[in-house]
Amino acid sequence: MIRMSHVTKTYGEIEPALSDINLEIKKGEFVFLTGASGAGKTTLLKLLFCEERGDHGELFINDRNIFTLKEREIPYLRRTIGFVFQDFKLIHRKTVFENTALPMEIVGASRKEIKKRVQEVLEMVQLLGHERKLPDAISAGEQQRVAIARAMVNHPLLLLADEPTGNLDEMLSLEILELLKNINAFGTTVVVATHQRHAISQIASRMVTLLHGKIVSNGKSE
Ligand SMILES: Nc1ncnc2c1ncn2[C@@H]1O[C@H](COP(=O)(O)OP(=O)(O)O)[C@@H](O)[C@H]1O
Ligand SMILES: [Mg+2]
Repeated sequence: MIRMSHVTKTYGEIEPALSDINLEIKKGEFVFLTGASGAGKTTLLKLLFCEERGDHGELFINDRNIFTLKEREIPYLRRTIGFVFQDFKLIHRKTVFENTALPMEIVGASRKEIKKRVQEVLEMVQLLGHERKLPDAISAGEQQRVAIARAMVNHPLLLLADEPTGNLDEMLSLEILELLKNINAFGTTVVVATHQRHAISQIASRMVTLLHGKIVSNGKSE
């Protein structure tokens, strides 16, 4: 599903944020991307989401060459990818339902389709009954679950999560990782970037470790 070969990314600095990255992720895999702060994890996710472009090398997602996409093709790529952030990025004046529905509204889904699918994903993250609440009225763990529901609402093939447990305590972190693992079990390919090694020690999975922009270990799939 994802194939990076010899990818390098420099932000106008001497040291590249990523250098000579070779990485293959198969459809249906669950991969932790680890490494200290500054190692290049976020940059790698941004390349996958086409938010940044590599300077060298090639990146294919489902046989499409991502570095040569035209500007107008990028939204179509993004529709197949869900993204979850450390700080949730919910809209505070919108309800749980409205936040979750947003990606469907953007693609022009009908009210009826939206209602049905939002119920489905809110059930998946165990938030049925909270539809009308504002994000500030629910806990941090619940807010992250809304963000995950929103990321899943358009049936993405790939779910990317950047430090999704960075604002949560250990127990809630484990809950969120188990939820992501569960989503993966239903077929979505999942890549989770985190520098919290303790958070992932309890979840069996392939681990790719970055150090100063290079892959230093690339655990094989289970
Ligand atoms: N927008 C940017 N402009 C300049 N340098 C950046 C930018 N984003 C990241 N970097 C640099 O790239 C390196 C990798 O950063 P990042 O991908 O955010 O790592 P991580 O997510 O592992 O903490 C760091 O040295 C960081 O300072
Ligand atoms: Mg980061």
